[in-house]
Amino acid sequence: MAHDLVIVANRLPVDRVTLPSGRTVWRKSPGGLVAAIEPVMRTHGGGVWIGWAGGTGQKLKPFQDEGLSLVPMAMSQDEIAGHYEGFSNATLWPLYHDVVAKPEFHREWWDEYVQVNQRFAEKAAEMAARKGTVWVHDYQLQLVPQMLRELRPDLRIGFYLHIPFPPAELFQQLPWRRQILEGLLGADLIGFQLPEAAGNFVRLVRQRVGHKTHRDLVYLPDGRTVRAAAFPISIDSAGFEELARSEHVVERAKELREALGNPRRIFLGIDRLDYTKGIYARLRAFSELMRDGHLDVEDAVFVQVAVPSREQVEQYRLLRDDIERLVGRINGDLGRIGRPAISYLHTSFPRDEMAALYRAADVMVVTPYRDGMNLVAKEYVACRVEDDGALVLSEFAGAADELKQAWLVNPYDINGMKAALLEAFAAEPKELARRMRAMRKTISQHDVRAWAASFMTELEDVVPHTKHPRPL
Ligand code: F6P
Repeated sequence: MAHDLVIVANRLPVDRVTLPSGRTVWRKSPGGLVAAIEPVMRTHGGGVWIGWAGGTGQKLKPFQDEGLSLVPMAMSQDEIAGHYEGFSNATLWPLYHDVVAKPEFHREWWDEYVQVNQRFAEKAAEMAARKGTVWVHDYQLQLVPQMLRELRPDLRIGFYLHIPFPPAELFQQLPWRRQILEGLLGADLIGFQLPEAAGNFVRLVRQRVGHKTHRDLVYLPDGRTVRAAAFPISIDSAGFEELARSEHVVERAKELREALGNPRRIFLGIDRLDYTKGIYARLRAFSELMRDGHLDVEDAVFVQVAVPSREQVEQYRLLRDDIERLVGRINGDLGRIGRPAISYLHTSFPRDEMAALYRAADVMVVTPYRDGMNLVAKEYVACRVEDDGALVLSEFAGAADELKQAWLVNPYDINGMKAALLEAFAAEPKELARRMRAMRKTISQHDVRAWAASFMTELEDVVPHTKHPRPL
């Protein structure tokens, strides 16, 4: 069957998980992408979603999940190693995140990346109706737009990058920089989190590919025009707010505070266990405040949830060891019986437990070295229905552009972070309410539906294959 809307993402909204019993079940994939795309698919009378189902090898048939049509793509062991763990997560991920870790460049990884992108493009070409719309997502699939256009020039193609797009000085390290730029230019509309990222892209296209550009437009020699612009992503604000107000979440938040010994203040970090997130530095800053006598384990505890992620990639394994060693040392030095300084959990939680944690926490600490947006910061704000709680936020997270009333910090500056944590710890209720009210207004006005609608409206306005006049 042909579909008017096809979503192409590296992952499906559900993940195939094998239980210890050997039984396999489908589990909702974490992340904002799923919540963001679902409403778009529903308003388009049911599109189809193409993506990897996790795991290796097995060829799975298309199926329905809660009214969505899903098309699982199989990946071989070599493809997972080369495309997913290698080129996507050990080359592009660190390169696009300010080279926080050193990107590795391997020709075999690139070959797997090309091969997987080609297979995804072929599947999208097969599923899309004539003159239909295909929306491709994220850094794992940057070649798909051009590959798809070659197969199906009748389609309207959108691309959205969920992570940062780096400045030219970093991007040009990539041996395949031109292929990536040309791959993306297969789209009619390319969405980024921030205007700076869109600007980086357009500048690179002008310098490296030689196309004419004007503001956010790129003019291709075949007469097509490509637009590159910012569409900052958001969350289901009303959904989180409703959850945070629900009786079971309020009750659970109380239980969590009690389980932690009812300290005066609870600090909270929730991140995928990723070196871009700045977990190590933030825990050090907190522990130094305790060591210096500004905080005490009777007053404060830091709950750090580290969601397991990309565990086969070496940098992620090393990071886990580093963080767990640090937590052990801090608790060994500063904790007392029944009163750890840091309550550390290496796990993921369902949405209602997250909402309870957000409600229980007085200070939310989000300190990435670089982050496309960071939805955790927005979720915390949506859950603070009493206009209380403090957000300490890295100025290098995309969310800092909108959440200006947070305590903004430079995560490389440990003393600056210590000062902000202390200020947030001691802030008066009036000051907290002033800041939180403003941030809540921002989040409620700009939710994920508004994000998806603005991208889709722009994409639908594209008139494929018309010759646009070149700028004077
Ligand atoms: O937003 C970045 C991103 O890589 C998404 O594409 C992805 O769904 C999420 O983070 C989780 O990462 P992974 O799919 O590697 O587990």
